[in-house]
Amino acid sequence: MTGLFISFEGIDGSGKSTQARVLAEALRSEGHDVVLTREPGGSDGAEEIRALVLQGDPDRWSAETELLLFTAARRDHLERVIDPALARGAIVICDRFADSTRMYQGLSRGDLRDKVDTLHALMIGREPDVTILVDMDPEEGLKRAKSRATVEERFEDFGLALQEKMRAGFLELARAHPERFRVINGAQTPEAVAHDIRTVLPLPHE
Ligand code: TYD
Repeated sequence: MTGLFISFEGIDGSGKSTQARVLAEALRSEGHDVVLTREPGGSDGAEEIRALVLQGDPDRWSAETELLLFTAARRDHLERVIDPALARGAIVICDRFADSTRMYQGLSRGDLRDKVDTLHALMIGREPDVTILVDMDPEEGLKRAKSRATVEERFEDFGLALQEKMRAGFLELARAHPERFRVINGAQTPEAVAHDIRTVLPLPHE
């Protein structure tokens, strides 16, 4: 048995986390075995790493160390949560996965994209079956992200210019991998976004 691995990607404040939750609830109510999870985190060890990378002084880690920490978290999450769930035939919905590392660690503190890809091939070596990119105007996304005011401000403090770069980068990734990416317009009502997401998934629905 193999399940279905769906990731959600987008810039901060794109609404993807809400949409991941809404989709998980909808699929569960249709009787599917669904595992809703997130990165960084999703397993006990990876949640501990999450606190290391998202809280505290932004300059705590070098760009390279940060990349290693995100990759370590992903490896643990994959081994302990994602792979076992897929093996039993579940639908795994993951709020962010490797595309976030390609964008955030690959672009935000110098060009580390080659290192990101090399490390991914070496230690992760897997992509989701479907990646939902919730595309969003960064100005709008930043407004939403800032209104939440959590302790995890590490990345949301990066500002508008970087979010613009991320958005362009995500769209570029989607163009490069049309077989797994589905781009959804995030600038609609949550209901409309949820509807669009449901129609692009390879699952029967009414
Ligand atoms: P997340 O909890 O998804 O925040 P949000 O729901 O507000 O988008 O992710 C937290 C931050 O971690 C986010 O700014 C992106 C960053 N991140 C990386 O830099 N690299 C990664 O590999 C992942 C998964 C997330």
